[in-house]
Amino acid sequence: VPRGGASSDNAVSRRDLLIGGGAAIGASALTAAGAFGLSAAFPNEALGYQKQLSGEEVVAFFGKNQSGIQTPIQSHGVFAVYKFKHQASRNEIAGVMKAATVEASRLCSGKSGLSDTDPMLAESPARLTVTFGFGTNIFSSARQKSKIPEGFTEIPKLKIDQLEEKWSGGDLLIQIGSDNPLTLSHANRHLSRVVSSVFEPLYTQIGFQGFSGNTRPGETQRNLFGQKDGTINPKNSEEFNDQVWAGPETDWFEGGTQLVLRRISMKLGTWDLLGEHDKSAAIGRDIVSGAPLTGTEEFDTPDLDAKNELGLSVIPDFSHIRRSVTGSDKNKFLRRPFNYDNGVNELNEPDVGLIFAAYTSNIRERFIPVQERLAEMDLLNLWTTPIGSSVFVIPPGCNEGGFIGETLLS
Ligand code: HEM
Repeated sequence: VPRGGASSDNAVSRRDLLIGGGAAIGASALTAAGAFGLSAAFPNEALGYQKQLSGEEVVAFFGKNQSGIQTPIQSHGVFAVYKFKHQASRNEIAGVMKAATVEASRLCSGKSGLSDTDPMLAESPARLTVTFGFGTNIFSSARQKSKIPEGFTEIPKLKIDQLEEKWSGGDLLIQIGSDNPLTLSHANRHLSRVVSSVFEPLYTQIGFQGFSGNTRPGETQRNLFGQKDGTINPKNSEEFNDQVWAGPETDWFEGGTQLVLRRISMKLGTWDLLGEHDKSAAIGRDIVSGAPLTGTEEFDTPDLDAKNELGLSVIPDFSHIRRSVTGSDKNKFLRRPFNYDNGVNELNEPDVGLIFAAYTSNIRERFIPVQERLAEMDLLNLWTTPIGSSVFVIPPGCNEGGFIGETLLS
């Protein structure tokens, strides 16, 4: 059901719209227009109205945790990574974060920024979220190195890595998500100006998910391999508290989290040559339904002990889910990746992949054991190569009047 409120009974079918012409669309379109209280003579006027409404959706900026993590993923995402332009004091960094907090909170509520050069572009937040992250240099500049959270560390060099400097490192992260790419682009440009007294751009990763209107809440999106990606993820606040958010014992960091951001290129050219059976075997799940190879529905629990008539594991030994399966609760984390597609590279091969973003309360204990197991052996490595790697501390959220990072920088 479209968010504008039309029921499926009186919605105009795609075919009606495609063939156009008054006769084909007349009756149902007029009913739809009536349902909106419009006097629209054409169905696209009514549909235009529905789109406007979903663009008005707002995600709260203020709160115990920063938004953009537990928030259901938006259809577009940007990870804008900055480095220090020059040495800055704790006060200077706090000043930038105060201004950035005010501007980000305004944009997320659908208001233009105070120093906005194009206020019209802020009118449709479409679930805009802005999430700030700190690299270790912020802790050293603010003379707060002792406050680097427990377990926060770079990912050790892995044998599968072919890291490029241009996609790695960084001192400040501004992660932005929205269902409206225009709003997102505007927010990104505006916030880059707001932090520019101290920070300059290092790299920007731009990604997308399937159009949000295409999936129902709780439904898993597909990645560019066609796989349902995100089946095993924390689903409610209890699981987020266990796996993602730092607890009260972490002092200033309570309500924060740690982000592993990796750019992973995907070799679509060779992946495309596989049939459905091999694609399913590589992951250990049916490529179409997302069900484990031992089940029938996406959310069935995989049976890792099941053998086929030849005595071989039904979920192959080197499949991605067998190798990544987290086993103990201690190793679980949130994966919230976006796809990227930059056309073709200089070799005329698809320049596509995953902006892999994992959020965990402790990178060393929870994330690295899983990553090392996958680097050691995972069928998916035949078609994937990590080309970028950064880690960020995501400070807790704040209340109105406060600022992101206040418990560290005040
Ligand atoms: C391009 C790279 C990758 C692709 C295409 C990919 C794809 C997938 C897919 C399709 C699933 C099964 C459905 C699901 O539970 O989401 C999955 C599961 C999983 N992946 Fe990945 N993945 C990638 C990289 C990684 C990396 C780098 C890690 C961590 C270091 C990781 C950790 C996991 C975990 C923990 C699961 C859930 C396992 C379970 O408990 O069943 N993946 N991945």
